[in-house]
Amino acid sequence: MEKLEKAKEILKKYNQEHLLNGYEKLEESKKEELLDQILSIDFDLILSLYEKTKKPVDLGEGKVEPIEHTDKDKLTSEEMKNYYAKGAEIIKNGKYAVVTMAGGQGTRLGYTAPKGTFPIIENVSLFEGLSNTIKEAQEEFNAIIPWYLMTSRENNEATVKFFEEHNYFGLKKENVTFFKQGELPMISTEGKILLDETGIVKQAADGHGGVFESMSKNGVIDDMKKRGIQWMFISGVDNVLAKTVDAVLTGLAIDKKVLAAGKSVVKSNPKERVGVFCKKNNRPYVIEYTEISDEMAEMLDENNELLYGESHILCNLFNIKAIEELSKNKLPYHSAFKKAKYIDENGELVVPTSPNAYKFEAFIFDAFERLDDMVILRVKREEEFAPLKNADGVDSPNTAKELYLNYLKNKNK
Ligand code: UD1
Repeated sequence: MEKLEKAKEILKKYNQEHLLNGYEKLEESKKEELLDQILSIDFDLILSLYEKTKKPVDLGEGKVEPIEHTDKDKLTSEEMKNYYAKGAEIIKNGKYAVVTMAGGQGTRLGYTAPKGTFPIIENVSLFEGLSNTIKEAQEEFNAIIPWYLMTSRENNEATVKFFEEHNYFGLKKENVTFFKQGELPMISTEGKILLDETGIVKQAADGHGGVFESMSKNGVIDDMKKRGIQWMFISGVDNVLAKTVDAVLTGLAIDKKVLAAGKSVVKSNPKERVGVFCKKNNRPYVIEYTEISDEMAEMLDENNELLYGESHILCNLFNIKAIEELSKNKLPYHSAFKKAKYIDENGELVVPTSPNAYKFEAFIFDAFERLDDMVILRVKREEEFAPLKNADGVDSPNTAKELYLNYLKNKNK
């Protein structure tokens, strides 16, 4: 009862009393869940994010310029050897881990199971493809490479089950860890937090930018420290070619004395839906494809190449010191306008046909400007980037499959 009174008080303060309209009709366990949600929601945060949706996107003040990069293809054999040796030393000594962010919903792909379970080629899921990369590296370096997978409330159970059913793809279970990412409530255009079909607050994954905080909250950073991990590669689940264990990239970061490194591929055309690396106020930065102006996207350099052409492929490397720092403060949230089913104030289910609610997400690359510097290694698209995003057309199962098959063919030559 105490909880209920407390919840009522909070809701009154924030003008969200509708959330308890159907409370009496809920089962006991749902009542409890709803009250716990209400007591843990940061209403000040949600309402301030809602207020921000009414204003144009603020890209912030600052001088934006292209960023320097190292082209892997142009390294001398001496440089290559040096970087590889430095990175290999870390991996061989068990100081390297892989983090895969697999909490997204895969809405654009139109696939309801966890995206990582998608069969990229016959009988090989994205998860299996990614685990093969780790297994091969464990053999190459004769070391254990722990794998941490970020899931969401919605897909955690199905993800773990998939790994169980496939015997962890031959990896040792004790070296594979799942942790859940955070969530934030969705809110209507009138500033009212939504209830889902089951009568509790409608929450949505809060973006991959929450990865640092989730790693801290879920004991992942502690576990890494216990294992002596110093460097980790963080990437998305939707790129089966992600070279998650990369000695050269690690060696480059160590050599240049930076705490983070990112991989890029040359942007294929100004309209490609990828973020691009740049510098803002002399710090590393990514301008997302939804936020870059046409003019900027089309600018050319003296060689007639895109001036902002280093695509961010969501394949980044961090030192644990950077992760510990980054986990202390939240990253900014971006809002997305989405279709969301909800229960209205009269207890009726509303199924919208067009976007009706805001979802808030943080992006991992917003962390870059909190770092003093990072190095960018340009790699070959055909070797490291096969994004799976859409049901058809670009970045679809067909294109990703072709890229993966070509890669496997060339690798085995
Ligand atoms: C992303 C990058 C973009 C980059 C492109 C490369 C963002 C916002 N932008 O675009 O800069 O050029 O990939 O392919 O990421 N995820 C979570 N939790 C979430 C949201 C996403 O784990 O809450 C994971 C997804 O499972 C996926 C990855 O993050 O593996 C990418 O997310 P997505 O929203 O698909 O990003 P893109 O728009 O494709």
